[in-house]
Amino acid sequence: MPDEPQPTDRRRFLACIATGTGVSMAMPITADAAPSESTLNPRLYSFVGGKTGHWSVLSMKAIIGDGLTAVERIDVIHGQPRMTDAAWVLRGVISNMRYTTKPESEALTAKQVALGRKTSTHAAIIPIRKSPKWWALTQDERRSVFEDRSRHTTIGLKYLPAIARRLHHCRDLGESEPFDFITYFDFAKDDTNAFDDMLAAMRASEEWKYIDREIDIRLQHV
Ligand code: HEM
Repeated sequence: MPDEPQPTDRRRFLACIATGTGVSMAMPITADAAPSESTLNPRLYSFVGGKTGHWSVLSMKAIIGDGLTAVERIDVIHGQPRMTDAAWVLRGVISNMRYTTKPESEALTAKQVALGRKTSTHAAIIPIRKSPKWWALTQDERRSVFEDRSRHTTIGLKYLPAIARRLHHCRDLGESEPFDFITYFDFAKDDTNAFDDMLAAMRASEEWKYIDREIDIRLQHV
């Protein structure tokens, strides 16, 4: 499961989170990972919007809430990028699973594939923020909305292995993060319609009533 963390030194990870800059928008950065930061926090990924990067932006659409400054290219960096003049950078960390049961985890492991296949010429980055009402729910209430009533994992499983994904959590990086999650998917061009069908099913679910900011960014590999 791609949102499972790689083995890491927990103390170093927590120290990095504690000293995190909270950099998120309109910070000058470059598209190269700064080695010291990525070494310090191996769970951190940065999504850098600007004029350079491996992904060319096909479209950027605000589904709900405020949009983001339009950019031509996006780079996905493992770690914290160096300083330069990008339009924005979003950051998130891979983390442990919150809602997945053992049978679901086994079903995911059996079907899912890693990002970065040669055939995955297309991608989507969808930053998401959930409402204060969502975060006020208890863990069991959230699980109930997420799976029992919205079938998030059940829907998603149908689209594996065509779609590869990685979930990044932003909420614990600091108060200045503009989103709670950065979701990242890649797939072959021919699977774009399947990806859109999956999104439509998820957006029609009860879970999405708790989303108050969502931006749909579509990409093509350069
Ligand atoms: C490709 C098929 C997909 C599968 C198999 C899948 C599966 C999952 C699973 C198992 C989790 C729960 C992780 C946990 O236990 O904490 C999760 C969380 C999440 N997924 Fe998906 N997902 C898919 C597609 C999507 C799509 C298309 C979106 C929306 C753009 C999305 C957005 C999210 C978000 C925001 C969370 C975090 C929910 C929260 O913690 O409140 N997923 N996904």
